[in-house]
Amino acid sequence: MAKNIVLIGFMGSGKSTVGRRLARRIGYGYVDTDQMIEAKVGKKVAEIFDGEGEAVFRALERQAVEKASSGKVRVIACGGGAVLDPENVKMLKQNGVLIYLKASQKSLMERLERGLARRPLLRAENAEERVKELLEERVKTYESVADDIIDTDGLSPARVVDEIVARKIG
Ligand code: S3P
Repeated sequence: MAKNIVLIGFMGSGKSTVGRRLARRIGYGYVDTDQMIEAKVGKKVAEIFDGEGEAVFRALERQAVEKASSGKVRVIACGGGAVLDPENVKMLKQNGVLIYLKASQKSLMERLERGLARRPLLRAENAEERVKELLEERVKTYESVADDIIDTDGLSPARVVDEIVARKIG
C-alpha cells in the first residue's frame, strides 16, 4: 500500500517547496506541520516561540505530526526539529517513508538568507555560526532516522522532485 512521503531536514533544505511540487506531481495531498500549527493557533511560528515558548510549540508540533500521519496518504513537510522527538519519528514511520533533504551549511545559508526572521531558532547575532552549531547537533539524527537521503546541493526543487519520483519512494 502507498505510504506517506515525509520530508525531513534542516531549516532551508527545501522541504516545503519540494513537498508542494512533489504532491502536485504525484497527485497526493500535501501538509506542512508548521502551517498546520499556524492554522490551529492563528499565530505565526515565531509568535508562538515568542509568546508561549518552544515547549508549547513542540507540543503543538507533536499534535500536528499525529494528525498528519493518520488518514489519507500524503506528502508531509516537517518542521526541521520535528524528528528530534522520537515519538514523532515513530508516528511518522508507521505509514511513511522519511526522506532527508540533505544540504551543506553553505547552501542552507544561501537558501535561508531571506527567511531568517521567521525562524526563531536562528535569530542570533551570528546566524551563520548558529546554523553551523545546530546542524552539527542534528545531522546524525537526520541521517539515522531517514529511510532515504537526497543530497540537494546544486539541485533545483524541480530536480529534487525528479529524484524522488525516479527513486520510486513511497
Ligand atoms: C524549526 C524549524 C522550523 C519551525 C520552527 C523550528 C527547527 O521549520 O518548525 O522554527 O527546530 O528546526 P522549517 O524547517 O520549515 O523552517
